[in-house]
Amino acid sequence: MVKSVEIATDRLIMRRWKLSDLKPFAALNADPVVMEHFPSTLSSEESDALVDRIEAGFDERGYGWFALERRDTGEFIGCTGLIYADFDVPFLPGVEIGWRLAAGAWGHGFATEAAGAALWYGFEQCKLDEIFSFTAVGNRPSQRVMQRIGMVRDRAGDFDHPKLEEGHPLRRHVLYRAQPS
Ligand SMILES: CC(C)(COP(=O)(O)OP(=O)(O)OC[C@H]1O[C@@H](n2cnc3c(N)ncnc32)[C@H](O)[C@@H]1OP(=O)(O)O)[C@@H](O)C(=O)NCCC(=O)NCCS
Repeated sequence: MVKSVEIATDRLIMRRWKLSDLKPFAALNADPVVMEHFPSTLSSEESDALVDRIEAGFDERGYGWFALERRDTGEFIGCTGLIYADFDVPFLPGVEIGWRLAAGAWGHGFATEAAGAALWYGFEQCKLDEIFSFTAVGNRPSQRVMQRIGMVRDRAGDFDHPKLEEGHPLRRHVLYRAQPS
């Protein structure tokens, strides 16, 4: 399986994870602003374990959430990429595209730049037939990324996240889809 996958975009290097990413990743996962649309922030142990799962996914499937590094400063700013998703909703199992950036890196188009490259990677390199994205209905910034990279809303596919209890404010999710062009 692909071990050394790396993508260069105009302003970013998308790469597998380094030990030096763990601390800034834990910091963004502990930030309530970044995690507003998730059920909770993560402890540093949970954040590290997430990186372990992402890296195991790269080994197993050849794709995952890429660590994002700014080309101009070398700074780690978060992650964007593809992840295998399998929970109890009609359109899964399948491959989900997602993004999570440090708040200081928002508003520069970095997520959109990385997400476009991740879609390309999924379709051209991994030969996927379809890529999904979903988020809580209130997460407008994330939906704007989906729209900017050309994903199409599947209104009939909106769903209640089965891992969140009834009445949870984040339970209702919107679904977007992309197919190879
Ligand atoms: C979702 C998230 C990645 C979006 O980040 P973002 O910076 O708003 O998204 P983009 O990278 O596409 O940047 C777009 C913004 O940068 C601006 N921008 C500046 N320079 C730009 C450029 N060269 N190209 C594109 N956009 C640019 C755009 O105008 C836009 O700002 P606006 O929304 O105020 O109009 C970010 O909010 C985040 O990490 N949230 C927390 C984690 C999360 O919720 N993840 C999704 C879970 S499903």
